[in-house]
Amino acid sequence: MNFEIIGTGRAVPPRKVTNDALARELDTSDEWIRSHTGIGSRYIAGEEIANSDLSAAAAKQALSMAEPALTPEDAAMTIDLVIVATVTGDHLGCPSAACIVQDKLGAKKAAAMDLAAGCTGFIYALETAAGLLMMNNQRKRALVIGCEVLSKFIDWKDRATCVLFGDGAGAVILEKTEDSTVGNGTNDTGNTGDISGSGVKNGLLQSVLYADGSGGDHLIIRKGGSRNPFKAGETLEKGIHIEMNGQAVYNFAVKAVTETIAGLIAAEGISVNDIKKIIPHQANARIIQAAAKRLKIPEDKFYMNIEEYANTSAASIPIALDELNRKGELQYGDLIMTVGFGAGLTYGGNIIRWSIKK
Ligand code: UT7
Repeated sequence: MNFEIIGTGRAVPPRKVTNDALARELDTSDEWIRSHTGIGSRYIAGEEIANSDLSAAAAKQALSMAEPALTPEDAAMTIDLVIVATVTGDHLGCPSAACIVQDKLGAKKAAAMDLAAGCTGFIYALETAAGLLMMNNQRKRALVIGCEVLSKFIDWKDRATCVLFGDGAGAVILEKTEDSTVGNGTNDTGNTGDISGSGVKNGLLQSVLYADGSGGDHLIIRKGGSRNPFKAGETLEKGIHIEMNGQAVYNFAVKAVTETIAGLIAAEGISVNDIKKIIPHQANARIIQAAAKRLKIPEDKFYMNIEEYANTSAASIPIALDELNRKGELQYGDLIMTVGFGAGLTYGGNIIRWSIKK
């Protein structure tokens, strides 16, 4: 049994905000932000845009790639499960963003739920979707989305956090297939890589998922949950916002990326040379440079797009996947790796054999 990605999509809000634009409102500079993070701009949602708007837009692109001959409504009816990986749903979990997306798409057959694993959410969601498809013969296809609208949960006066984040969504369609071989053992580029012929699985091959809840305080939205709810008559000096211990998260992140890549390679029994591209969570280019150095992996093996989007949390990996796919940089049969880390604290990664034919 395989779990193959058969369509990808992405969406960002129309408003692009450059570092220079932020520097006009805040004691910061393009030079500081670029040199400390690699970020050059980010997309920020207007008041009228919520999570399900971006999620549904990314999902429609993924659906039309998977089912180009069907109407959007008919394509949506092929979906059995919708998962939105997010910590910034339209509401405080009630209803979930996934249920709103299910309704917007008309995916009437689909079960729907959100998954909260911070910036590692999409990695967790792929493995969760594969597990749920495997458990039931009636389920064949999942729509897996990573979406975040963190700009609405930012203290825009805190320069240490507000310059880091952006809004966006990425989506994939994951399909359960019975065929367990990849072509004739070579991919379209003639590269045999690790493909040894019959019996080689396609799609999602391996996931490692980790959590260290003891570090939860380092990246936290304190207000609004059951620990610290709003009370009648209460006023807020600031909107609900994310707080981050940047140094602690940085140190955790370098370790998390290093441990995840080593863990995935050992679990799959391959070498890093077999991997065409590593798609890391885009939080800070320096984190990836430090991990690459520790692991002695060339930096250009990592796909980076943080310069344009900043940190879109659970959306960063599926946005990058869609970009690579649409740019034609992934060939049928290529092995790719995702690696992420974030609130929870959570971390983990996937190995995927790419299965979209051009
Ligand atoms: O997606 C989930 C996870 N999030 C992350 O992975 C983030 C991990 N952490 C980081 O990426 C880095 O720690 C940051 C980018 C957040 C901060 O970079 P840093 O090199 O660790 O800077 P710092 O916090 O040590 O601050 C250095 C200086 C401070 O000034 P002083 O005390 O040295 O005078 C800060 O006040 O930089 C100052 N600073 C800024 N200056 C200009 C902090 N933010 C800014 C800013 N513009 N935006």
